[in-house]
Amino acid sequence: MKIGFIGLGIMGSRMAANLLKNDYSLIIHNRSKEKAEALISAGAVWADTPAEVARQADILITMLAHPEAVREISEGENGFLPTLKAGSLWIDCSTVHPSFAREMAAMASKRNIQYIDAPVAGSKNQAAGAQLVFFAGGKAADMETAAPVFAAMGQKTVHVGNQGMGTALKMVVNLQLATSMAAFSEGIALGESLGLSREMLLNALIGGPVAPPYLAMKKENLLNDTYPVEFPLQWMQKDLHMAAIAAYESGTAMPLANLSKEIYRMAVQDGFGENDFSAIFGFMKK
Ligand SMILES: NC(=O)c1ccc[n+]([C@@H]2O[C@H](COP(=O)([O-])OP(=O)(O)OC[C@H]3O[C@@H](n4cnc5c(N)ncnc54)[C@H](OP(=O)(O)O)[C@@H]3O)[C@@H](O)[C@H]2O)c1
Repeated sequence: MKIGFIGLGIMGSRMAANLLKNDYSLIIHNRSKEKAEALISAGAVWADTPAEVARQADILITMLAHPEAVREISEGENGFLPTLKAGSLWIDCSTVHPSFAREMAAMASKRNIQYIDAPVAGSKNQAAGAQLVFFAGGKAADMETAAPVFAAMGQKTVHVGNQGMGTALKMVVNLQLATSMAAFSEGIALGESLGLSREMLLNALIGGPVAPPYLAMKKENLLNDTYPVEFPLQWMQKDLHMAAIAAYESGTAMPLANLSKEIYRMAVQDGFGENDFSAIFGFMKK
């Protein structure tokens, strides 16, 4: 079985490396070829265009920044959809929004291509260690086909429901991450302004009942005011936008998420976009 992989950024490069480690035959493409060099050295075959990847693949995985990139790579010039074989499977791991995932599923279906949306929980380290959790939306038979591929890149796959439903769950998860990180940052900024040391605040709160457990992984960043990228802040802002689109479409009011989205946007404008999303603290404490 040949796997095509397009999108070799922070997450995709590590996921693809795990497929290679599991002896899958891999054809790869990325907009910037330099990010593919390590994988090529490890045995992956480079293709010059997404269309070329698709010609050879039985399963195609995409791990791209946002819906615009997915649309460009699938339907744009030299996009993969026209050359992907009938009967093959496209797994999109990019974080998009549910109606976009369903639109892609419908486009694939017109060409007799199966589709699973499978955004991931976990970041750079979990991607490297094959410890991701996949939130998958798709048909049961396709889930069976994809199971060993997911197992090579992750610790668990949650089959959430039909196409678009994996993405629906991902919206809910990232909304929690984004808003809680901003709320926590505001609290620490208040504590510091009242004369409490940051170290004392972080030690008192992290690990206790009011702080979400993931903050333990961000403690050093906040202590040192350095935010080495795991999950880029600019993609967290994008995910809040994805959640806002989903909420608009479902008629749900999301005042906190929308306010957070704008705070993250201001942080992007202030130059924090390519830092880890925990840099929202660096932005808010100023
Ligand atoms: N990092 C995390 O912790 C994490 C966790 C869960 C989910 N995610 C999601 O996973 C996806 C990838 O994230 P990442 O962290 O790997 O981001 P990243 O390092 O910025 O990688 C983004 C990828 O998308 C490609 N891309 C962006 N715009 C493009 C365009 N217009 N045309 C073609 N390719 C384009 C990039 O190509 P270039 O290399 O040429 O720029 C790169 O391959 C995102 O949807 C993100 O929300 C990330």
